[in-house]
Amino acid sequence: MARREQTFICQTCGAASGRWQGKCDACGEWNTIAEESSATARPPMPGRAPRKGRPFTLEPLTGDHNDAPRLACSIAEFDRVTGGGFVRGSVLLLGGDPGIGKSTLLIQVTATLARAGHRAVYISGEEAVAQVRLRAERLGLADAPVELASETSVEDILATLGDRKVPRLLIIDSIQTMWTDAVDSAPGTVTQVRASAQALIRYAKRSGTAIILVGHVTKDGQIAGPRVVEHMVDAVLSFEGEGSHHFRILRAVKNRFGPTDEIGVFDMTGEGLREVANPSELFLSERDLGSPGTAVFAGIEGTRPLLVEIQALVAPTSLGTPRRAVVGWDQSRLSMVLAVLEAHCGVRLSGHDVYLNVAGGLRIQEPAADLAAAAALVSSLAHAPLPPDAVYFGEISLSGAVRPVAQAAARLKEAKKLGFGRAIIPEAARSEGDSSLTLEGVGALSKLVADIAARGTRPQHSDRRPADED
Ligand code: TYD
Ligand code: MG
Repeated sequence: MARREQTFICQTCGAASGRWQGKCDACGEWNTIAEESSATARPPMPGRAPRKGRPFTLEPLTGDHNDAPRLACSIAEFDRVTGGGFVRGSVLLLGGDPGIGKSTLLIQVTATLARAGHRAVYISGEEAVAQVRLRAERLGLADAPVELASETSVEDILATLGDRKVPRLLIIDSIQTMWTDAVDSAPGTVTQVRASAQALIRYAKRSGTAIILVGHVTKDGQIAGPRVVEHMVDAVLSFEGEGSHHFRILRAVKNRFGPTDEIGVFDMTGEGLREVANPSELFLSERDLGSPGTAVFAGIEGTRPLLVEIQALVAPTSLGTPRRAVVGWDQSRLSMVLAVLEAHCGVRLSGHDVYLNVAGGLRIQEPAADLAAAAALVSSLAHAPLPPDAVYFGEISLSGAVRPVAQAAARLKEAKKLGFGRAIIPEAARSEGDSSLTLEGVGALSKLVADIAARGTRPQHSDRRPADED
């Protein structure tokens, strides 16, 4: 009798190997390899010829393309991230930590679409129908004509939906709970997740239904298991937020039909997720005015200007290697700014721990934040509060020069709108602003450092030990 073939598959990247090992050779992760029965390369049925290919028609590039008709869900912050609504037949993966609010967001989206008269189906593999109902009731959505089920078998789901009156939107919450008969691995394994996603994607392309797959995220930020799924879907959205904060940020990590730099901002309230149309107000609402180490950065997220506070703490270290901790910004960017401060501005930080934090749980990717980060760092070191009505932006080059950044006018306009009176910006950007703000151009970082130190109560060249200080 033929022995059942066993393979070992990395649950993170999906690489297969012939034996169990502690570390995956392909992605380098530890303890991710699990035994699964071989699903690939099924031997042909005895007595039956292998299937011949079926010829199909090749199409020209021009022609009918259905104009990617989009279905906007009229939750503006959600539509902004998808690029203007769901494209027919597209599949979206929504990742996020457990409890962040994925199910809440999606029941709101589904209910809004259903109320607008579209067929919307919500399949929960994690919660019972009663639980989903309870949530919908709490959110005041119980009257929306959403079609609901608690199911985990992909075949059953697709058989139920049928090919005739197909839904416009189908939610699968979550892909990790789905399983298909096509493979015989256990539910939740990479093979099952991949095969289930494949079946659902095929259905979406065939029927034109837009599908949202929910995916859990592991503690290190990867969408658990189905990293493989990320390559199969049209868009990957991630829903983020700090545990202690009520802001939630929806971000496109990948999007075949729209931008990837737009964010949607929500506020988690007792009545579900509320859209935040003006996030700058939200991110600046908890400002600690007049204390050293904070600077307001005038940033751009996608097409929208966004003001956010950058907080720094520079404190004498008791460690041999000083600590460099950063939340919401790039660690290597911080190292670069610190190196430029040391090399070109005479700011010695080798005896100090440095902590940098972007307020409100936002994650900034723009190099334009360099100047605001540097200002916050020097302000903390020199004990010099920055002017409370000032915003900062500008990229710092390795030579210590402050370089102009894109969309200066939009940044300045937002600062003006929120009542700021002055902007400390690259020298070259001064011509772009209108006259209603006081613009202070900075050509070199050393000038900014000197200006801040002049306001301070402590010399910034200090390299003293804690004992010398008050
Ligand atoms: P949920 O959508 O179940 O998260 P996920 O699907 O990502 O695991 O959200 C659960 C959390 O949201 C829970 O901690 C309670 C909170 N919540 C509110 O604060 N307000 C609400 O109206 C709802 C429905 C949930
Ligand atoms: Mg959930």
